[in-house]
Amino acid sequence: MSARGRFITVEGGEGAGKTTQLATLQRCLEQAGRRVVRSREPGGTPLGEELRELLLQPRASGMCADAELLLMFAARAEHLAQLIEPALARGDWVLCDRFTDATYAYQGGGRGLDPARIATLETFAQGTLRPDRVLVFDVPPALGLERARRRSAADRFEQEQLAFFERVRQVYLERAARWPQRYTVIDATAPLAEVSARVEAIAAQLLTETAS
Ligand SMILES: Nc1ncnc2c1ncn2[C@@H]1O[C@H](COP(=O)(O)OP(=O)(O)OP(=O)(O)O)[C@@H](O)[C@H]1O
Ligand SMILES: [Mg+2]
Repeated sequence: MSARGRFITVEGGEGAGKTTQLATLQRCLEQAGRRVVRSREPGGTPLGEELRELLLQPRASGMCADAELLLMFAARAEHLAQLIEPALARGDWVLCDRFTDATYAYQGGGRGLDPARIATLETFAQGTLRPDRVLVFDVPPALGLERARRRSAADRFEQEQLAFFERVRQVYLERAARWPQRYTVIDATAPLAEVSARVEAIAAQLLTETAS
């Protein structure tokens, strides 16, 4: 039986470069012969993608913060059951574009929900499962939003005020500082090639950790 796979997530504010760099990470791991499953949150399953639509569409503005929180975890429960857990169990690496850290950052920091309530749901939905490694792409929100807006129309979250994204950023940085072995903060203001080089170095390190 193959060893359990590793669970890696990428996090950070809008336009930080998460999706771009997830592709870099996937390429490095696949070149080294790892089987990789790449996914995203909210989403990753048919039900999860439907919930994503509900969560991101601008016309859902006014959704109460608790409903938003519970929908995020509903999508996550489905994602874990249908995709993440089976993949890890068969030895695949799972790379996920946002996960529960985003819930602490957006619903906790951004919306002001008590992190203790988020922690209750985290345990409910995940048991003891946590990402093995979290890469936090850090940019000042104004820069990230500018990049995101150049790329596509604003979703329901991207329509928030700058102060919302400052709180999001603070939560990511606080969580990274609290668990320095599991979190890596990457300066995502650097030119694309530099950020990619940093990600390639992290991939090499991850591969060394699991070399057998
Ligand atoms: N280091 C960089 N320097 C300049 N532009 C970048 C950099 N990284 C990514 N970009 C560009 O910024 C835009 C946003 O990048 P990307 O979609 O990867 O961010 P994201 O974090 O996934 O955003 P979102 O939160 O909206 O999903 C893209 O057009 C991408 O090409
Ligand atoms: Mg993205």
